[in-house]
Amino acid sequence: MDQTPITAAIVGATGYVGAELTRLLLAHPRVSLEHVTSRSRVGTRVDALYPHLEGRCGLVYGDETPAQLARRVDALFLALPHGASIEAVASLFEDGAPIGRARVIDMSGDFRLEDPALYEEHYGVEHLFGELLGRFVYGLSEWNAEAIAAAQHVANPGCFATAIGLALAPLAAAGLLPDRVTAFAATGSTGSGASASKGTHHPERATNYKLYKVLRHQHVPEIETMLASLGAETRLSMVPASAPMTHGIFATLHLPCDDPETLARVVEVAYADAPFVRVRRSTPQLNWVVGSNFADIGLFCGDGELVVASALDNTLKGAAGQAVQNLNLMFGFEPTRGLGAVASLP
Ligand SMILES: NC(=O)c1ccc[n+]([C@@H]2O[C@H](COP(=O)([O-])OP(=O)(O)OC[C@H]3O[C@@H](n4cnc5c(N)ncnc54)[C@H](OP(=O)(O)O)[C@@H]3O)[C@@H](O)[C@H]2O)c1
Repeated sequence: MDQTPITAAIVGATGYVGAELTRLLLAHPRVSLEHVTSRSRVGTRVDALYPHLEGRCGLVYGDETPAQLARRVDALFLALPHGASIEAVASLFEDGAPIGRARVIDMSGDFRLEDPALYEEHYGVEHLFGELLGRFVYGLSEWNAEAIAAAQHVANPGCFATAIGLALAPLAAAGLLPDRVTAFAATGSTGSGASASKGTHHPERATNYKLYKVLRHQHVPEIETMLASLGAETRLSMVPASAPMTHGIFATLHLPCDDPETLARVVEVAYADAPFVRVRRSTPQLNWVVGSNFADIGLFCGDGELVVASALDNTLKGAAGQAVQNLNLMFGFEPTRGLGAVASLP
């Protein structure tokens, strides 16, 4: 088998997701990371901004455009804020056809929804290139592997959407999801990206816990769309929280049902052979997943109810790790290639 590495580039590589992608791709045995770009750090060495990569990375942030990179590399990651990805993706098409050979993985929310009208409602932006939404395959690796493998354009799922989606997808596919599910989900501060704001600044967050975007988080339509694609017309009531931690999503879902044990077994069976989803009859812990590509699911059966807990690292399984999992699918590499790390304890 040809072991020549594929070439890759990251646009928006100075951000938290871009930095994790850089770290993972540098260590991936089948990938040669050739370009990393930025607007603010052009000419800066990656290891000057991120000294943990010293000795591993001689790259310098450049200002190549997405379109230039699409012609140069095999795999192009866009790690831009939502909104910015819309134009970046649009620049990758000419007369409706993709330019270059690159297969593209977009980390933002800009191409995860099918209906452009949902962008105005949930992201507060008009999606000017709604006709391109249909080009993207939704990249929830465990549930869309065949389509991802064949795709040129993948929309990598959001971090909350991955945690909640993985917990609910087996039940949606089995026709066992109740009409309404409630999800309480806490996130760490890296979920807000590298630029500090009042709400994400350390003194504001380090000893605090609060709810935000209650019942109106932008990942709700993404999750409901994914569940609908598996046959479930389920409404999600989502209560997100900002928790005093840097990494991690911890979602707790409440499902009223007649036979919780049957539902629990469906979830166990669905992930029996999944390399990155571990299911237990006890609580997952963020300490066991942060730093890894694992999503850990915990199941609790009660009287007429099932509680499902789902924990993952937002920048890994919730972003860069899942993106590398998708790259492995798209290029036919072993599913776990470049993703062998487990959490470091205690
Ligand atoms: N953080 C998470 O846990 C997480 C999880 C899942 C998905 N995501 C998604 O992944 C994407 C990146 O997230 P992040 O947390 O890494 O954000 P971030 O830390 O804010 O990084 C954004 C990157 O994009 C560049 N950039 C900012 N504004 C830009 C613009 N208008 N045009 C071009 N480049 C711009 C920034 O660098 P320069 O200023 O140097 O250009 C930076 O490299 C977002 O869409 C986010 O929603 C994040």
